[in-house]
Amino acid sequence: MPRGSILVVDDEAEIREGLQALLASEGFEVSLAETGQVGLQKLEEGPFDLMLLDVSLPDRNGLDMLREIRLRDPHLSIMLITAFGSIDMARAAFKAGAQDYITKPWSNDELIAQVSQAIEGRRLREENVQLKRALKQRYNFPNIIGKSEKMLAVLDLVTQVAPSRSTVLIYGESGTGKELIAKAIHAASTRTDKAFIPVNTGSIPVDLLESQLFGHVKGAFTSAIASKKGLFEVADQGTIFFDEISTISPETQAKLLRVIQEREFMRLGGTDTIKVDVRILAASNEDLRKLVREGRFREDLFHRLNVISIQLPPLRDRKEDVPLLVGHFLGHFCRENGKPPRGFTHTAMKLLMDYDWPGNIRELENAVERAVVLSTHESMDADLLPESIRTREIVKGVRLQLAEFLPPLPGEAGARGSAPPPSLFEILEEVERRIIVDMLERTNWNQTEAAERFQIPLSTLNQKIKRLGIETRRRPGALRGTPGIGYGDDAAEFSVGK
Ligand SMILES: Nc1ncnc2c1ncn2[C@@H]1O[C@H](COP(=O)(O)OP(=O)(O)OP(=O)(O)O)[C@@H](O)[C@H]1O
Ligand SMILES: [Mg+2]
Repeated sequence: MPRGSILVVDDEAEIREGLQALLASEGFEVSLAETGQVGLQKLEEGPFDLMLLDVSLPDRNGLDMLREIRLRDPHLSIMLITAFGSIDMARAAFKAGAQDYITKPWSNDELIAQVSQAIEGRRLREENVQLKRALKQRYNFPNIIGKSEKMLAVLDLVTQVAPSRSTVLIYGESGTGKELIAKAIHAASTRTDKAFIPVNTGSIPVDLLESQLFGHVKGAFTSAIASKKGLFEVADQGTIFFDEISTISPETQAKLLRVIQEREFMRLGGTDTIKVDVRILAASNEDLRKLVREGRFREDLFHRLNVISIQLPPLRDRKEDVPLLVGHFLGHFCRENGKPPRGFTHTAMKLLMDYDWPGNIRELENAVERAVVLSTHESMDADLLPESIRTREIVKGVRLQLAEFLPPLPGEAGARGSAPPPSLFEILEEVERRIIVDMLERTNWNQTEAAERFQIPLSTLNQKIKRLGIETRRRPGALRGTPGIGYGDDAAEFSVGK
């Protein structure tokens, strides 16, 4: 099966044929058009995954043609071929709806990388649309993404418990989607037309929390100048969601127990009993059972809340959902920022897959948002990812390499026969050398940036590079790593320290 179908529109025969040979050798199916007119005809005969379009065609202006195609097919990925790079040109191209561009002459490796990225990005977007459709048919939770067994089991449980009035306790680390699941339970229940009231118990002082939950009568306390309804009354017929339930004080726990048992309460300072019909959902990222054992949470309240519990898996335990979530947030943030669809390069995607995500989906969402906001063209590389995601990778890599350096003990697997094991000094030097080379690779051999990331002066980095005999070099495609602009000459950066 071809890796994707590409239409090349360029008036120069040499370019057309060169691209055809290159792309076909990489497994793509290629069609050629020598004029804009022929290009448009071929598009009709399509479908194509990607169009490579020359900006200066004899019969049409490429930018005008781009706009025209965009109107007909907003989803087709288009890369422009330009003879010279200028920021104005790039801006105009993006504005007209191109995802990326290549400049003549190009590096074959980079061109293949850009093309694969454009096509795979599109596939991922389509896969996401299909997945959402399938999930919608099965569960009707359009904004919950996941196809891992763990997540589907959660959604099954949500579907089952939603129609009842049972209290549900949602467990999960920070950022795993506890509030999202609580909202889904409400949305799938018969209460969906009524209020969903989230209460963040952790962030409200005790006195204030009680008056917020139960309301108060006039004069109940100094500042109570008028009677006020509490959230339980506001949530009547609907759902109330206690976020971080473990943080509420013992007094409030007792009052909450009464509401759950009797479905009634009194306003602060009041004497009338108020009856409500409220479904209670609660979330915690701490193990409530443990808090009960430690005497920090009432056991009777725990049992009342723990009628049904849902455990949300951390993202690191369902890595297969990472690409889908990335695709979902990419779509969302590109729309929100008015940018054409974007995608991550293989290197960036690999970092995203390898990372452990201690902040779970929220952290991933933030990383994607940041990358989209900072990005200047379709293909987003590792330099747009937060430091934490990139640094971890370095440390992990070093750990793997270390195993290879440690002098083996006699008889241990890997003992090197008669060769003397390296000294500690030699090991440290080699590790330092590899870390520096690794960082230079990541910064496209931009020493100023590498020094900044290492938080050391540039001169210190220069000395180390010389001492360790690291050969500085300029890599193909270095220009693309420059944040902010797609073009521009950063040759000056490379002469530093040489
Ligand atoms: N399965 C999912 N699909 C899509 N988006 C998700 C998913 N799970 C979580 N999110 C998004 O991740 C973010 C964090 O989710 P949410 O606020 O529900 O987490 P939480 O567990 O309540 O976090 P915290 O413990 O920090 O309060 C939200 O923007 C939410 O929309
Ligand atoms: Mg939350």
